[in-house]
Amino acid sequence: MPVTQNTGNRPTAVVVDGYSAGNFYPRAFAELGADVLHVQSTTDLMPTLSPPRLSEYALNVVCADGDMESLVQRLKPYAPVCVVAGQDGAVTMADHLGEALGVPSNGTLLTQARRDKYEMIEALRRAGVRCADQFKSADPRAIAAWAAERDSYPVVVKPLSSAASDGVSICKNAEDVRRAAEDVLATPDIFGKQNREILVQSYLSGTEYIVDTVSADGVRYTCDVWQYEKSLLPNGKNIYNRDLLVDGSDELVAELTAYVDEVLAALDVRWGPAHAEVIMTPDGPALVEIGTRLSGHIDADFNNACLGHNQAGLTALAYLQPEAFQKQYGHKTYSRRRPAVIYEAPTTLNGTVTAVDEDIVAEIRALDSVHDVTVKLKPGDRITPTVGLLTSVLRVLMSAPDEHQLTADYEKVRSLKESVYHVAE
Ligand SMILES: Nc1ncnc2c1ncn2[C@@H]1O[C@H](COP(=O)(O)OP(=O)(O)OP(=O)(O)O)[C@@H](O)[C@H]1O
Ligand SMILES: [Mg+2]
Repeated sequence: MPVTQNTGNRPTAVVVDGYSAGNFYPRAFAELGADVLHVQSTTDLMPTLSPPRLSEYALNVVCADGDMESLVQRLKPYAPVCVVAGQDGAVTMADHLGEALGVPSNGTLLTQARRDKYEMIEALRRAGVRCADQFKSADPRAIAAWAAERDSYPVVVKPLSSAASDGVSICKNAEDVRRAAEDVLATPDIFGKQNREILVQSYLSGTEYIVDTVSADGVRYTCDVWQYEKSLLPNGKNIYNRDLLVDGSDELVAELTAYVDEVLAALDVRWGPAHAEVIMTPDGPALVEIGTRLSGHIDADFNNACLGHNQAGLTALAYLQPEAFQKQYGHKTYSRRRPAVIYEAPTTLNGTVTAVDEDIVAEIRALDSVHDVTVKLKPGDRITPTVGLLTSVLRVLMSAPDEHQLTADYEKVRSLKESVYHVAE
């Protein structure tokens, strides 16, 4: 790859593990005139996430041994101006690297509280921010005993840091709790790490929202809020269904934003993107979790169409031109240009995919509201009834000039989704 050392003309941004949504960073930084380097934290790319497109970077630096000192020495000649995490698992390394390079960064003081769900909620409690009750232990019996002592079900059992709702269960009694806790210990998280502890939390009841922000030196912009519409399965798994873009002028957005500002302050999130999940409980908003990385929802063109911007582009602006960012976006909230929906289609099919029905896929694509369709399975893949994000079978990005058309097209996709895959038992 053609790489010249930084001549001082173009700023250089560093992306650590630019998997999945992180793939939107190279374009975002390049559009603002920056070069982009990639840091790969593992010898081989992780197979569970969609891989970084390394060809879009000027250089890929592999740092599999975690030797921060030599990584810093390798990056210094390029005089980076920022370090961003391409996905959840890269946040810790990005915080350390940013601090070591002396660039604007959230730093390492509270980095653990930005990754570990237990520490995260405890940091909120210390700061007096509304949050769930919780307890953690390596012993499933202790987890069940905590729930029994509280005697207020349901409770939520989950790993301390994972993703895609992996291992998250909503439990109705002590027996459910013990079983779910044992399951967490028995299964590695989706990054392949063994879970050694289990987290149990009080159940936050209410509608759940995504709140995405970008900050420059502690000045925040709320770039989008989505309402989750999930379905709770009989086995306690809460699966994704449809996410709806909330109108930015909705009263709710102001309330959620005010709450997320408290969360950002409690966790010392001063720079870059954050993706928060918040439940509007009867007492007010309460955090499920927050990650200082891009939303998994981001699709730059789709977001540009319904919002006029996207979180990756805003993040590049925040780091490269913080004053311009603050002036244009500081303390503000997005306005919705078009109603939008992201549909993570669940399935009840069970078997092996024999074919993808391209006519049906074309019919879905041809709907006016459909911006893009991701067909997640291919012939030969197993298809199983959806139990979480990883087992949804179709992702459809939709937007329309009005809600009416959007809902009609969504219902149409819903009626077609089980015909996309031909399945043999
Ligand atoms: N304390 C809680 N009260 C109510 N619901 C919860 C709680 N904790 C988790 N949930 C539900 O379970 C979902 C997944 O939990 P969480 O976000 O902690 O896990 P995750 O592995 O990061 O999943 P994802 O990637 O799907 O966000 C939440 O979005 C929420 O719907
Ligand atoms: Mg989550």
